Amino acid sequence: MNPAKLVVGNWKMNGSAALLRAFAAAARDWPACETVVCVPHPLLPLAHAALAATPLRCGAQDCSGEDGGAYTGEVSARMIGELGGRYVIVGHAERRGGHAETDGQIVAKAQRALAAGVTPIVCIGEKAEERDGEQTALVLRRQLLQLVRVLGRDIASIVVSYEPVWAIGSGDAATPGLIDHALGVVAGILAFHAGPCARSVRLLYGGSVDPRNAGAILSRDAVAGVLVGAAAVVPEDFREICKAAARCSVMPTRDAA
Ligand code: PGA
Repeated sequence: MNPAKLVVGNWKMNGSAALLRAFAAAARDWPACETVVCVPHPLLPLAHAALAATPLRCGAQDCSGEDGGAYTGEVSARMIGELGGRYVIVGHAERRGGHAETDGQIVAKAQRALAAGVTPIVCIGEKAEERDGEQTALVLRRQLLQLVRVLGRDIASIVVSYEPVWAIGSGDAATPGLIDHALGVVAGILAFHAGPCARSVRLLYGGSVDPRNAGAILSRDAVAGVLVGAAAVVPEDFREICKAAARCSVMPTRDAA
């Protein structure tokens, strides 16, 4: 058995106050895993209020690499923390691709998040052509290296999500064997460059996780949790994934705490 698995929902540009109410109602009796719902920025205060009395926590999907100033349209990690966000996704493939974010910018975002007391969930992963060219390990190394160098020991406080770009939104999740392999590569890179503190980094998988494949993925020891997109805005599906996570988790007991 593994320690408590972490299930993170990425609502992307979806959701509403009504969906939050549905989650708050469903959360009265929630499976025993750690659960985070990353909502669009304007929904964050509502999410914080709606989920405060439930085991679910809320987070955001991106933050600025700056702390404040003339950055029209940006949202700082500090603001996210003040609005009740405990986590923030950074470096998602849809931002690396659609917004040309660089590894350096993503590291700055992770740093800002840590400084604000918000846990960054750093997404990494290869594109289909990189996989086909057997470049996966190289890509993962490139995406992690600056992060390790800049964060130093603080790396222990981050979450890393391996999300192959070809698996996101495709209905074609990576196989558990492939996930094991990729997370092994990630763990190896972190251990080599960051030493023992890398052991605390929680490693997630994301990309077409759904109620049918969640159990097989979450049962792997290498997988500390999952990052869920499409299925995260369907309360019944998200709950099923969390049930699978609970079956694979050992929640800390009061005595152990
Ligand atoms: P998906 O998205 O579950 O819809 O593939 C995952 C993600 O983008 O984080």
